[in-house]
Amino acid sequence: MVDMDTLVSLCKRRGFIFQSSEIYGGLGSAWDYGPLGVELKRNIRNLWWRDIVHLRRDVLGLEAAVLMHPRVWEASGHLERFTDPMVDCRECKRRFRADHLDTQAWLHYCPAKKDNKFEIPAGEACKHCGAHRTLCPVCGKGELTEPRQFNMMLKTFLGPVEDSAAVTYLRPETAQGMFVNFENVLQAMRRKLPFGIAQIGRSFRNEITPGNFIFRTREFEQMELEFFVNPLDTVDGRPADEYWHDHWIETRMAWYQRYGISSQNLRLREHAKEELAHYAKRTVDIEYQFAIGWSELEGIANRTDFDLRRHAEVSGRTLSYFDEERKQHLVPYVIEPAAGVDRTVLAMLTEAYHVEDVRGEKRVVLRFHPEVAPVKIAVLPLLKKREEIVSRCWELRDRLAARGWVTVYDDTAAIGRLYRRQDEVGTPYCVTVDVQTVGDAEKGETGDGRVTIRDRDSMGQIRVPIADLETAFADLLGGAAWAAVAARYPAQAGS
Ligand code: GAP
Repeated sequence: MVDMDTLVSLCKRRGFIFQSSEIYGGLGSAWDYGPLGVELKRNIRNLWWRDIVHLRRDVLGLEAAVLMHPRVWEASGHLERFTDPMVDCRECKRRFRADHLDTQAWLHYCPAKKDNKFEIPAGEACKHCGAHRTLCPVCGKGELTEPRQFNMMLKTFLGPVEDSAAVTYLRPETAQGMFVNFENVLQAMRRKLPFGIAQIGRSFRNEITPGNFIFRTREFEQMELEFFVNPLDTVDGRPADEYWHDHWIETRMAWYQRYGISSQNLRLREHAKEELAHYAKRTVDIEYQFAIGWSELEGIANRTDFDLRRHAEVSGRTLSYFDEERKQHLVPYVIEPAAGVDRTVLAMLTEAYHVEDVRGEKRVVLRFHPEVAPVKIAVLPLLKKREEIVSRCWELRDRLAARGWVTVYDDTAAIGRLYRRQDEVGTPYCVTVDVQTVGDAEKGETGDGRVTIRDRDSMGQIRVPIADLETAFADLLGGAAWAAVAARYPAQAGS
């Protein structure tokens, strides 16, 4: 599996992800998405939105403001309980999450050795003296303070006066936007239970120890669905909330696999009772085997009626649903699949990364699913000095781009290099225009009007009439296998 440093370096070099404010030394907890990263991220958002909102009959979209009334956070429990235990080093003053201390390597001055400064892997004891870490893992000298609870919401002030009346928070989750709009959506859209409200947007958390690239940042994006169910209903003989919880766990696991994440790198983790969030009856995480080990990609919680009840209590409004059949008002239960856009980007990058040996040369290839790939097609000239070839390339680029496929032109290297560059950013198909395509007027030769399409994964090449390009790509990018499309055209030898 690719390690994090290799991924970070590829992402920077090839325009996926840059350190935020790098020219000022960078901001450890924030990252900027470059020209390819922004396409990748947008594809992930769009696929989620299409599959969760557009293709389903029972889910509606919403986009709430990041800034919400401060009482939202009182009702949701975030003001009181959205905390992590934090410890400080008395020597170097570094701050750590108490529950993360043993997940990082630690510095140890071993009393049993002369040359005694060692870095010991996370969670392990010193093999010379047998000691476990008790001091600061970074400086190796300082005692740590007792854990204190630290609220992770990012505080800000609205308006010109920075007093307590003006305090508000950047939302730590998008979920509350759906709860406070439950009644609006219900009234406006006249829905019957069960139905969901979905939202994609930024959230902010003042994480004590952000890190591991885009895995844990202070500003990130979430894709959340609040699926409201009637707690009095049963489905297949089971309480509706439990049935729908399992439905969403299965649906979300299948979603990651549909877009190229292998089942071996995904697993479910049931939260133990002591670890459940204050609102949850049951939570199951979908974990991915990242370079840092198995970690949460998405959480799927049964939030019961906690949020709607709390908002009704604090706002004084009635937030309920009228069950026509039973002729009674009730408060719906909520099943919440909550995914991170950035963590999905990281999982897709990790999964796609492959290194191969091609005729004695190293080939780095990102095997993205075509719908995930930031660029779908690259149009490349075999000779950049031939005007007819270059202008035909640009014409094709524009034609394919107009069909809605992100298509780029590149002539900054020889063709073999250009192919490798496209492999390294995961472009599924290249189109090459050569002398045979356009002919040679000086020699009185007419072109054959065909171009080469090259497949990223097999490196196979076919000669396709320009008039057929759109049909071929509609098939390929629509999910047809390369072999099926390739069988329609003559093969071409190549790299
Ligand atoms: N509304 C429920 C909720 O927010 P969560 O498990 O805290 O649940 C959901 O967050 C998802 O958001 C996580 O599974 C993860 O993908 C993403 N996420 C949470 N904190 C993050 C952070 N600091 N950086 C990047 N992604 C984060």
